[in-house]
Amino acid sequence: MRKILLDEDDVPKQWYNILPDLPKPLPPPINPITREPVKPEELMALFSKECIIQEVSQDRWISIPEEVREAYMLWRPTPLYRAERLEKMLKTPARIYYKYEGVSPPGSHKPNTAVAQAYYAMKEGVERLTTETGAGQWGSALAFGCMLFGLKATVYMVKVSYNQKPYRRMLMELWGAEVYPSPSTNTDSGRRILKEDPNNPGSLGIAISEAIEDAVTHKNVKYSLGSVLNHVLLHQTVVGLEAKRQMEIADDYPDLIVGCIGGGSSFSGLFWPFYYDKVSSKAPKAVQFLAVEPTACPSITKGFYTYDHGDAARLTPMIKMYTLGHMFIPAPIHAGGLRYHGKAPTLCLLSREGIVKTVAYNQVEVFSAAHQFMRAEGFVPAPEPSHAIKAVIDEALKCKKTGEEKTILFLLCGHGHFDMQAFEDYLSGKLPPYEYPEEKVEEAMRKLKDLYPWLEVER
Ligand SMILES: Cc1ncc(COP(=O)(O)O)c(C=O)c1O
Repeated sequence: MRKILLDEDDVPKQWYNILPDLPKPLPPPINPITREPVKPEELMALFSKECIIQEVSQDRWISIPEEVREAYMLWRPTPLYRAERLEKMLKTPARIYYKYEGVSPPGSHKPNTAVAQAYYAMKEGVERLTTETGAGQWGSALAFGCMLFGLKATVYMVKVSYNQKPYRRMLMELWGAEVYPSPSTNTDSGRRILKEDPNNPGSLGIAISEAIEDAVTHKNVKYSLGSVLNHVLLHQTVVGLEAKRQMEIADDYPDLIVGCIGGGSSFSGLFWPFYYDKVSSKAPKAVQFLAVEPTACPSITKGFYTYDHGDAARLTPMIKMYTLGHMFIPAPIHAGGLRYHGKAPTLCLLSREGIVKTVAYNQVEVFSAAHQFMRAEGFVPAPEPSHAIKAVIDEALKCKKTGEEKTILFLLCGHGHFDMQAFEDYLSGKLPPYEYPEEKVEEAMRKLKDLYPWLEVER
């Protein structure tokens, strides 16, 4: 079976929440001044109330409001493909499947949470949502979600991407959002950074500071985050819940699940429901989970496990995660969505416990894998999921050597139709194989310890 489709009735009615099934309790976010856990009520000033209730909920299943399911039905259920042509090209005995989220109007998995967040904000009487965006995928998803539910959206877009990807900005503007290149002159945090360095290319950490500042200094405005937090990852589980049904139809079950990680939402959305099978002894196989990150932003493979801020201006509470330090300024790699210094605390805990493994690849090998995939399967992958494709090809080639008939499932979380400049740079040999230097990670950790001498910093 080449393509496995579901009916609209199969759009999940509940999201799966991993919190009650984690091997250890999740370390809570803390206030760095008091070093005490941040109370959910304090976070409600910033985020929609319902999102914060979900953030700390211990309920395993959370109902999806009917209005959100209806919005999902514009593009969900999304297809699951068997990559037969790629298997043949690689001459591998492995069976490769991919769940394709590029069919949504903004072209990625991001609207799975954007429509839910916009819906809850609308219900709570919020007038405008602010956010940051790297490559523009998340910003366009939120612009789309806000358009559906009649809210205004303000997006701070990392300056390097704002210049690299004018069509993503255009898309956001067409859906009605205001878009600013970050650092901008709109906020104190932006102005401070521009004063120090007028050519600062921006980072997700800086754009988050600006979006938060904009939200807290205006009435009836809330902030919305596209990854990292528990409620965001939870909303993405529609991906994995559908994929489980589709694998059943294919009469198969994955031995290995692969996904790229920026903050960890798309990959978590795919693997959490299979993790649930595993912990509830329902999984027919000992499924393994493999996350893939860029060598230019190696949070898990080279970073430290500690409490750190989510943003450059230290406006967010500190969260326990693998981090490269909140002042991290990434190299201008094309996978804009994978340039965040930290990762989701749930994913970091599962990595710490050895349940999720992580590998890193440089962008040259990643684009080469994307090109190979495109020539086999036809779809143009976004640079972010191309990281997963590289890992899948490597695994499939290992199977070719060993003869193992592994079933591999990966997430093609977005299309790369707005990334043609990146492909052109790849084809003309202009892409450098960036690796983030070890010394920079150590320097960032020294600075973090100078700020907070009480911090425990582990590798
Ligand atoms: C297409 C795409 N994939 C992946 C990511 C990474 O984010 P996450 O790890 O939360 O899925 C992004 C982030 O912007 C993205 O746009």
